[in-house]
Amino acid sequence: MLPYLLDWAHLALRWLHLIAGAAWIGASFYFNWLNNNVRPVPPGPDGEIIGDVWSVHGGAFYRALKKGYTVDKLPEPLHWFYWEAYTTWLSGVGLLTVVYWLNASAWMAGPLPAGEAVAVGVAALPVAWFVYDRLCKTPLVNRPAVFGALVYGLLVGAAWGLSHLLPARAAYMHVGAMMGTIMAANVYFVIIPSQRRMVKRAAEGLPADLTIGAEGGLRSLHNNYFTLPVLFVMVSNHFPFTYGAEYGWLVLAAVGAVGVMIRHIFNLKGKGLPYGPWVAASVASGVAIVLAMAPWPTGKPTAAVSWEEVAPVVTTRCSPCHSTAPSLGGFTAPPLGLVLDTEAHAVAVAPKIVTMVGTNQMPLGNMTNMTPEERAKVLAWAQQQ
Ligand code: HEC
Repeated sequence: MLPYLLDWAHLALRWLHLIAGAAWIGASFYFNWLNNNVRPVPPGPDGEIIGDVWSVHGGAFYRALKKGYTVDKLPEPLHWFYWEAYTTWLSGVGLLTVVYWLNASAWMAGPLPAGEAVAVGVAALPVAWFVYDRLCKTPLVNRPAVFGALVYGLLVGAAWGLSHLLPARAAYMHVGAMMGTIMAANVYFVIIPSQRRMVKRAAEGLPADLTIGAEGGLRSLHNNYFTLPVLFVMVSNHFPFTYGAEYGWLVLAAVGAVGVMIRHIFNLKGKGLPYGPWVAASVASGVAIVLAMAPWPTGKPTAAVSWEEVAPVVTTRCSPCHSTAPSLGGFTAPPLGLVLDTEAHAVAVAPKIVTMVGTNQMPLGNMTNMTPEERAKVLAWAQQQ
């Protein structure tokens, strides 16, 4: 009964994470779009108006006005945007806890023993925020290209480091969580407080001070560039050839860079600036990544391996989990419905076996103590299918 209820708890948490994440990123995209598309309006009687933008959606026209900070009387209600960010982060940490930290022997143990791996994973989140926030307080923050390159370099370094300390899949997820933590902390520690100061000033009827909102605005822009790399980390979990690649951290760095370029295209397009070169660069980078990772034939013939030779290995090393009634790992059903009992079933997923066994993802946490010789044998068999 308990594992069954935990499955539902896990599902509910994941759903919540997606709902809140969609609301957060949707709002982030919308407001960045709005800000990029606002065009100055000629000064009218209402001198506060900085610019406007017209749009048509859902059967109506909308005109949004961008305003300065002084308003005689604060409008009611004034809408704030923060629960999306906090809920996404809290549910994300909840998922990390339920999926990774509480199942450390399966998902965190590898280069480090389970306990130490969890300590590294937990520490990574506040460290990411601390380092990034410190950097934001240096003059470098005013040089977007340099600052962006520096933050990117540090995150790639973190991906590299974590890939040596944690199993590949956990390393990816923790890099995603580091970026998510920076984003949520930006909202909590900088963006919302700066808006509170703005609103307080307006409520007191003091003249506009454009610098008050500026810091929040900059952090909001940083967050905007983090969104697509974070989303890539989340979907990569379903594509073991990414995190499981020999240089998985490099794949993350390369695809993450493409994500930043795509976000940059959105922003340039909104401002009416030329973005063609960035489209070319992101497409070229995407093609380069696909080609660089392609499993080119090595030309080295391997001795033929028969199913009879690998069947006993699969039975002892894989079937404890991948069978209709698993005996290991606390599973009540075969993971992903994958049953490795007959040759036909194994042949059907041979390419996946190549990735999972070839990159040490399977057996999970090597809980069934597969030897290197057995691994080579299963790999050779799967490659020949
Ligand atoms: C301790 C339990 C366990 C053992 C032992 C195990 N697996 Fe898995 N396997 C899993 C889990 C859990 C998943 C689901 C991973 C996920 O959710 O991405 C999985 C997923 C897979 C997948 C599917 C990957 C995908 O994304 O579709 C393949 C293929 C696979 N395992 C092959 C094997 C092979 C081959 C062996 C034996 C050499 C093996 N596994 C041993 C638990 C195990």
